[in-house]
Amino acid sequence: MSKRKILVTSALPYANGSIHLGHLVEYIQTDIWVRFQKMQGHEVHYVCADDTHGTPIMLRAGIEGITPEALITRVHGEHLRDFTCFHIEFDNYYSTHSPETRHYAEGIYGRLKAAGLIMSRAVEQFYDPVKQMFLPDRFIKGECPKCGAKDQYGDNCESCGAAYAPTDLKNPYSAVTGAVPVRKASDHFFFKLSDDRCVNFLRRWTTSGTLQNEASNKMREWLGETGENKLSDWDISRDEPYFGFEIPGEPGKYFYVWLDAPVGYMGSFKKLCGDKGIDFDEFWKKDSTAELYHFIGKDILYFHALFWPAMLENAGYRTPSKIFAHGFLTVNGEKMSKSRGTFITAESYLQQGLNPEWLRYYYAAKLNATMEDIDLNLEDFATRVNSDLIGKYINIASRCAGFLTKHFDGRLLPLSGQSSSVAEINLEKNLVAASETIAIYYTERDYGKAVREITRLMDIANQYVDENKPWELAKDATQKDRLQVVCSAAIRAFVMLTIYLKPVLPNLARRVETDLLGLEQSLDWAAISKCRLDRILPYKHLMSRIDPHQTAALIEAGKVSLTPTINQPHSPQQHAQHQENIIETITPPVTISIDEFTKIDLRVARIINAELVEGADKLLKLTLDIGTEQRTVFAGIKSAYDPEKLKGRLTVMVVNLTPRKMKFGLSEGMVLAAGDGSGLYLLSPDEGAQPGMRIK
Ligand code: 2FM
Ligand code: ZN
Repeated sequence: MSKRKILVTSALPYANGSIHLGHLVEYIQTDIWVRFQKMQGHEVHYVCADDTHGTPIMLRAGIEGITPEALITRVHGEHLRDFTCFHIEFDNYYSTHSPETRHYAEGIYGRLKAAGLIMSRAVEQFYDPVKQMFLPDRFIKGECPKCGAKDQYGDNCESCGAAYAPTDLKNPYSAVTGAVPVRKASDHFFFKLSDDRCVNFLRRWTTSGTLQNEASNKMREWLGETGENKLSDWDISRDEPYFGFEIPGEPGKYFYVWLDAPVGYMGSFKKLCGDKGIDFDEFWKKDSTAELYHFIGKDILYFHALFWPAMLENAGYRTPSKIFAHGFLTVNGEKMSKSRGTFITAESYLQQGLNPEWLRYYYAAKLNATMEDIDLNLEDFATRVNSDLIGKYINIASRCAGFLTKHFDGRLLPLSGQSSSVAEINLEKNLVAASETIAIYYTERDYGKAVREITRLMDIANQYVDENKPWELAKDATQKDRLQVVCSAAIRAFVMLTIYLKPVLPNLARRVETDLLGLEQSLDWAAISKCRLDRILPYKHLMSRIDPHQTAALIEAGKVSLTPTINQPHSPQQHAQHQENIIETITPPVTISIDEFTKIDLRVARIINAELVEGADKLLKLTLDIGTEQRTVFAGIKSAYDPEKLKGRLTVMVVNLTPRKMKFGLSEGMVLAAGDGSGLYLLSPDEGAQPGMRIK
């Protein structure tokens, strides 16, 4: 078989939220496929990146008081940590906020423009007069025009399900500031998807075997029948303030996040090419014979099956070989929910001490090549892992390896006409014979079937062990040879099962290779029929059972980790609404009553002394005069102020804050400063205000 060149991607997660079990369906699905193809000896590159641009990320950074760059750097570290723990082995995990992605985004835009496929026109949108920015639909809330439910998003009502435009909402307000939005027009750039060149190409492309049948049908619906043109032009620009790439030659206009997100696949691969000396063009040029596969959630099909191929085709690049869309994850039969504790992050899963390979195994057992949702039923999860993975698979090695090390110094007997009986020969035959079937299941992403076939082989191996009873042979000195034959056959079966499971359980397989077999090299698929085992090392514990308490604790942890200030992103696995970049919203401003506000005792204060604090990087020690008394406050403003320059000036202080004991002394209040991560600005009252005056 010739060596294929294959480039594989998973969807790029947004850089403002944690990786959760919903995301992991896709990364595990892709990683299994990539590992399987690598085991076949093909040249496979698996790239991904954080999707870093857009309004939600910009706002989230603002809320955290840091720059978007600082936010995406931190989140990149968190994402990579989670992926690594779950053994997702990217060849490169990059960021869309990269020079490579910028280069290709600008290049594609330039070529589309030169081809006459970009046009501009004015668009009227809601604008937040306080934040001075245009609001994406998801950042506008109000009353549902149909049922009157309060606090509904600008695109659809969660109460009655009605879909509408944000302008239809009654009493709309900005979810960012609470202000009443105004309508304002500005020029936007559009990719002319309705152009015949795009429509004709897409009609062909979407029906040429690039998509799953369900997806292809969906596309036909979206494209309409021949002659009918249902595609609208795609708005690819956003006005500043926006975190993204500015459009060349168009000051104040930025590429919409979804324009540069898929270009991030190219950007990440380009970086890998530079690092590894791979030829980028060989994979991306128009007539490339390399294969390109995108694994995605079904909710972002529109982008990957329409916009993205149309962009590539008209900008002179190759188009994807296939798009593999999967369904969403439900937990215990329902949509993941924070209140039920089933919105489980990768980090929380790991913190409960749950083994990442248990989840990989369970997902594999549930996955197929369709867009159907898959359910993580926690009870079933524990049962399957314990009964199949431990009870059937690990059990083979744990029952037989010890006899070999104890009685035969770990030596295995080869399968041979003299020593082996028909039982050993049949066992081996059965295991080898399944190789092609299992390979087809992996290739076709029918992992559930692969796991079922492997489980059938586990049953055969266990039945062999049960029938030949090595524990009894071990008691009978005359059966010593037979004991070695039986245990050798069982261990060989165990190793073959390990190879079959290796795409799913890479870490466990590696431990079998190194700890049990003492191998330096990694076993590939061909080793199923070729692997000669002479000797094993003493058996070390390979994997434990799940304790049901662990899954219960997972749900409990999910309930506690609710973050009140910022919503977690709606994942691709949760909402089919990405067309609007509505991924993350800021919780609408919490309103408080005037009584609540007046509980805060704000006073004018004069800084009578300011000094550095030994051993503190960020703090200044301030002595404040509030008319009736003097207070000490440790304020984190050292980066912005020279203490000498503060002496004598007025500021605003919260005087009824519970005093806080710090390493450096007691802090008896707080001074107020504005800041968005780029600077800090202490508040001052207008001239004439006196220390102690109440602010209300
Ligand atoms: O839906 C999402 O989570 C997007 N961040 C996926 C982007 S995939 C690709 F196009 F970049
Ligand atoms: Zn409604």
